[in-house]
Amino acid sequence: MKLLAVDTSCDDSCVAIIDTEQWKLLSETVISHIEPMKKFGGIVPEIASREHLKALPLAVEECLKKAHLQLSEIDWFGVTHRPGLIGALLVGVSYVKGLAFATGKPFSVFNHIEAHLFSPLLATLEGETVPAFPWIALVVSGGHTELFHVTETLQYHWLGGTLDDAAGEAFDKVGKLVGMAYPAGPTIDRWVRESASETQRKIPFPRAQVEGLQFSFSGLKTAVALYVQKSNLEAEKLAIVASAQEAIVDQLVEKTRFAAQQFPQAKIVVTGGVACNSRLREKLSEAYFPAIRHCTDNAAMVAVLAGLYKRTEKLTAAPWTATAHSSGDF
Ligand code: KG4
Ligand code: ZN
Repeated sequence: MKLLAVDTSCDDSCVAIIDTEQWKLLSETVISHIEPMKKFGGIVPEIASREHLKALPLAVEECLKKAHLQLSEIDWFGVTHRPGLIGALLVGVSYVKGLAFATGKPFSVFNHIEAHLFSPLLATLEGETVPAFPWIALVVSGGHTELFHVTETLQYHWLGGTLDDAAGEAFDKVGKLVGMAYPAGPTIDRWVRESASETQRKIPFPRAQVEGLQFSFSGLKTAVALYVQKSNLEAEKLAIVASAQEAIVDQLVEKTRFAAQQFPQAKIVVTGGVACNSRLREKLSEAYFPAIRHCTDNAAMVAVLAGLYKRTEKLTAAPWTATAHSSGDF
């Protein structure tokens, strides 16, 4: 079965096609809308929706072309329906609904966090082996910081998450406080990796002491804001972002290891945009991280999630009707 999946949850128009029998990724396309957001210093939901409207048909066309397929050869459509920017999601869901209606094929809707959660399995489409279940999975992105215990394919329970900001949001806000463009996460990562010394990582920004498997990053943001006010920003900029990165990464590592101690059989996997971070990869070296392009938003992870539901015979839908599959409420 050829399955075309779409994700428009944030500021990337993502499309991917997989063959569920051959378990092969046939093509994938990501059209990013970061550029028009840059002058606003962050994502403007209305602009994201309008950009998706323009880019999504082009992304679908390009993806079909790369897979050497016609639209009529797609057997099933999948689309992210939440969580995310509501207007942006609406564009994706409406467009996919239109494709399903036009072709008379079914479509199903999926949860974006569940797609990130099972994104390590994307490597199996390329014949690679990934850690066997159980997993302790840290899903860490611009909008989420969540820990899960995954016992089987599509079987998991939530262990804890952030009480306030997500880790990616903390990266982006720290960057904004020192004058960096959105998204600051990748820029901070690269700059610190290439230029920061050990001593530049040492400003003692707080590591929130919250209970159990919860996270908190809002205190760090306040601490950085206060520090910026009284510092010589130009001279200390690198030290500020390097130390803030250290504080974010330390909290992620500490809580993830704490969760892993409670499930000694489990292998740690880390997914979502912040899983691209090289300092996190270095400090949590025992963990499995998917390929960089499959950590940030993409539709291949949605297609794989759909494929997993198909394998477990849970993917059922009458033509043009949506089936919500995800059990979590993230
Ligand atoms: O998963 P994702 O692409 O979109 C969401 O679902 O949110 O994650 C985007 C987030 C942004 O906050 C971005 O700054 C962060 O991931 N990010 C990084 C890195 N690459 C992306 N943060 C730190 N280091 C990176 N290398
Ligand atoms: Zn995401």
